[in-house]
Amino acid sequence: MDKSKIRNFSIIAHIDHGKSTLADRILEITNTLEKREMQEQILDSMDIERERGITIKLNSIQLEYKAKDGENYTFHLIDTPGHVDFSYEVSRSLAACEGAILVVDATQGVEAQTLANVYLALENDLEIIPVINKMDLPSADVERVKKEIEDTIGLDASDAPLISAKTGLNIVDVLEAVVAKIPYPIDADDNKPLRALIFDSYYDKYLGVVMSIRVKEGTIKVGDKIHLMSTNADYEVTAVGIKTPKILKKGELEAGEVGWIAASIKTIKDIHVGDTITKTDNPATIPLPGYKKMKPMVYCGIYPLDTNKYQDFKEALEKIELSDSSLVYEPETSQALGFGFRCGFLGLLHMEVIQERLEREYNLALIATAPSVIYKIHLTNGEMIEIDNPAKMPDPQKITKIEEPFVNVKIMTPKDYIGDLMNLCQNKLGIYKDLEYVDDNRMILIYDMPLAEIIFDFFNKLKSISKGYASFEYELIGYKESKLVKMDILLNGDMVDAFSMIVNSKFAYQRGAALTKKLKELIPRQNFEVPIQAAIGNKVLARETIKAYRKDVIWKLHAADISRKKKLFEKQKEGKKRMKEIGNVEVPQEAFIAVLKLD
Ligand code: GTP
Repeated sequence: MDKSKIRNFSIIAHIDHGKSTLADRILEITNTLEKREMQEQILDSMDIERERGITIKLNSIQLEYKAKDGENYTFHLIDTPGHVDFSYEVSRSLAACEGAILVVDATQGVEAQTLANVYLALENDLEIIPVINKMDLPSADVERVKKEIEDTIGLDASDAPLISAKTGLNIVDVLEAVVAKIPYPIDADDNKPLRALIFDSYYDKYLGVVMSIRVKEGTIKVGDKIHLMSTNADYEVTAVGIKTPKILKKGELEAGEVGWIAASIKTIKDIHVGDTITKTDNPATIPLPGYKKMKPMVYCGIYPLDTNKYQDFKEALEKIELSDSSLVYEPETSQALGFGFRCGFLGLLHMEVIQERLEREYNLALIATAPSVIYKIHLTNGEMIEIDNPAKMPDPQKITKIEEPFVNVKIMTPKDYIGDLMNLCQNKLGIYKDLEYVDDNRMILIYDMPLAEIIFDFFNKLKSISKGYASFEYELIGYKESKLVKMDILLNGDMVDAFSMIVNSKFAYQRGAALTKKLKELIPRQNFEVPIQAAIGNKVLARETIKAYRKDVIWKLHAADISRKKKLFEKQKEGKKRMKEIGNVEVPQEAFIAVLKLD
């Protein structure tokens, strides 16, 4: 295969700027799919992606393009998610590419994830092609957006294709730019020992683990004996292929190509995304650079509603970890919820999406608790224990001090929002460190802050204050002592371990009052009165009461209201699906994460 005719690239953008729609148009123009096979946002193959209209998983496909120079090119296109929680997917896609198309919405301009994704692309030494999308909209402002791309990103946007992914305007310009500007895989050498990067994987009932790979050097075909360099496992390749996006088998993948392989692998633990595959005979000595392991930001307990489903849940977690290596988990138990797992996530959306995928793809009904960080508790007997679950907090009498993780937060923002963002950080117990200029317009605000305050609705507030323009990154700087207390919630007099939270004593009253109020709204009336109390030890901080419902409400309905009555029953049934009976009170799922939406 002529390597100079290969182009490997990703499409990156801020959320909703039109990546997936552009990918659809590219598939159409290159006739990769017949018209009848086309559906909108074809690369968003998971149901949950289609319903939410967002990309969660990366997706790679091979297409053929006959360029204006008369030559045929093979493109490998990798569609990536835009939301910050999934930037791990983006960084992995980029490591498999030589270039990236940067889609910028002509009506919005450069936004937080535009910048963050550009930095990821630059870290991977990629050639970036800016493309201005949504030109069909009357509010498109090309000159402003071009200037923003040049000023804030430093890319030349003078000849950026002006396109509409919706109407198909100028899509060919994008493909020609890919041919002209993105380098071919220059280092691809078929004769070197095999080195292939695993950038994604999933579990298939028939094939076992299927790995998406980028072959950097060497070749790979069915029957080859392969060696996984980090886990030292050996297998024999049983299938090799590409996605178009149909899964097609192929004899061999060469250096420079992107595709998939399977090797009847049932031991999921042998496969690590980011690992290098070589051959058992004639192996390479040095693995390819892998990925920086992402640190989970948020931990929460997840439990099957039906305790008999524990084993199924465990297997589902193992399989989902294959396609999402940023997920971490370990077993835990709760008095209220039974056996489950403590899981670590990159953010709150990530947490929601994993829970939803587990429920849909593995047919499980689950309940998740409020997120937490890891605390270090020093005891009077000189011991130190670590807890990631407030319910495990020892008796305060036995504690000498509690430390919590602090992070150094760097917020990149246009300077207009500095004042409000400083207020936000101050309210989150941030300790001011520095303020730096990036250019005339942008600044970096630096604070040290408890990590717990970041998972507690920091990102949403940052976004709304800065209209989406500010982006932030954080780095763990270590543990510091804080005045922390464990706040319990009592439902009908019984403490519910899954509701316990660790809070800074400064916020205890405020959060206790807000949480009891919120729970009162969320927990439906039962046929008896239910008091809700927030307490520290024996001291009650706040109390609300859910009144009993009047049993006769339904039966008083007139015959003509039958359908209304039916609807009411349906609604109750629907609600029941996500209800957990705690003591004798039915509690809906939302109640367990209500703590995050408090102010
Ligand atoms: P994520 O995958 O969630 O990160 O979003 P995305 O960048 O892939 O955006 P997507 O392709 O899902 O498009 C977002 C919305 O913008 C959809 O409603 C599209 O129909 C719309 N859209 C995309 N391109 C265009 C365009 O050129 N013109 C107009 N008017 N709408 C567009």
